[in-house]
Amino acid sequence: MAERVSITLNNNNGSFLLSPPPKSTTTMSSSLRTTTAASRLLRSSSSRSTLTLSASTSLSFARSLVSSPLLSSSSFSQKRSRVASVNRSFNSTAATKCSASSDPDQLKNAREDIKELLNTKFCHPILVRLGWHDAGTYNKNIKEWPQRGGANGSLRFDIELKHAANAGLVNALNLIKDIKEKYSGITYADLFQLASATAIEEAGGPKIPMKYGRVDASGPEDCPEEGRLPDAGPPSPANHLREVFYRMGLDDKDIVALSGAHTLGRSRPERSGWGKPETKYTKEGPGAPGGQSWTPEWLKFDNSYFKEIKEKRDEDLLVLPTDAAIFEDSSFKVYAEKYAADQDAFFKDYAVAHAKLSNLGAQFNPPEGIVI
Ligand code: HEM
Repeated sequence: MAERVSITLNNNNGSFLLSPPPKSTTTMSSSLRTTTAASRLLRSSSSRSTLTLSASTSLSFARSLVSSPLLSSSSFSQKRSRVASVNRSFNSTAATKCSASSDPDQLKNAREDIKELLNTKFCHPILVRLGWHDAGTYNKNIKEWPQRGGANGSLRFDIELKHAANAGLVNALNLIKDIKEKYSGITYADLFQLASATAIEEAGGPKIPMKYGRVDASGPEDCPEEGRLPDAGPPSPANHLREVFYRMGLDDKDIVALSGAHTLGRSRPERSGWGKPETKYTKEGPGAPGGQSWTPEWLKFDNSYFKEIKEKRDEDLLVLPTDAAIFEDSSFKVYAEKYAADQDAFFKDYAVAHAKLSNLGAQFNPPEGIVI
């Protein structure tokens, strides 16, 4: 059984250890905010919080405190000596073995909390993007974990969050920070993928055959270099998509099916540089208004992305060069046409491709994973 340790994080001014969410955090309209939901999400005003961690998780947790954007640097410096002593208590073997994974009961409870979050904040799209950007750094040509990238939770570290492709994802981390704190027995890697799969399902998408038990990368030094995620406007979009997704071990069918995730969400010029500041579909929200969506009902997961990309008939809807490529490239087009005509076929292939994506590069404990 794992040795356990208690870390007491105590600030003296009662402000706890978290920075306020940035202004651009996706927010629900106040009229929809219920007292119950708000009270669930509100932080305890206690100035003292005790976190109990298994020995195997404590080192990675302590390291993540150093670079997590969720923690203010001043509060961290006050805690540096305590974190250092936690580091000393657990030798590097514990860290390199990385045996920590997630608790099945906590995963189930966290899933319910994620559903509540989705119902109140309408943040399905950004949670899907969070899971994808953690997993999508995987390089099948690198054997070592976590250097190979993928679904290992490394996106929680500042250095990776600051990659240009991840613009805006700090908002996703802020949205789930309370859930992460509540369930210390769940890894970041699992929480990102749980949030993403739950968002797809809750938006009306297919049930994703997920497994859990992903081990977390330990520190910022484990983050992949910038540039592993796809560009939206490369010189040759189809070639670029193949280069990036083949490196992940995915194929043409996966590329087209996964592109269908853009049925959800919006692009914001102030984040990615793509899309209009607002359209008739986004100016009222829900959530923070603005941006340009790919589909009119951008909180509903269906096959409308393929229909809209094929028609390109509405200037208020976005078509990135990489989206257009799925109807221009002859191999991609077979799948894109099929999904535009047959939502069941899309859902079936999407569920398989999403599960594959969520497992990329992951180290599971137990090796067969945990099904909840
Ligand atoms: C095929 C290559 C892809 C490219 C070039 C691409 C590019 C982009 C860009 C530029 C944005 C806008 C970000 C912003 O301004 O906030 C975006 C958003 C999004 N992407 Fe992708 N993406 C790709 C694949 C995927 C995949 C595979 C998924 C999931 C399986 C995905 C899910 C999403 C979602 C849900 C959003 C909306 C986020 C929001 O509304 O906050 N994308 N993507």
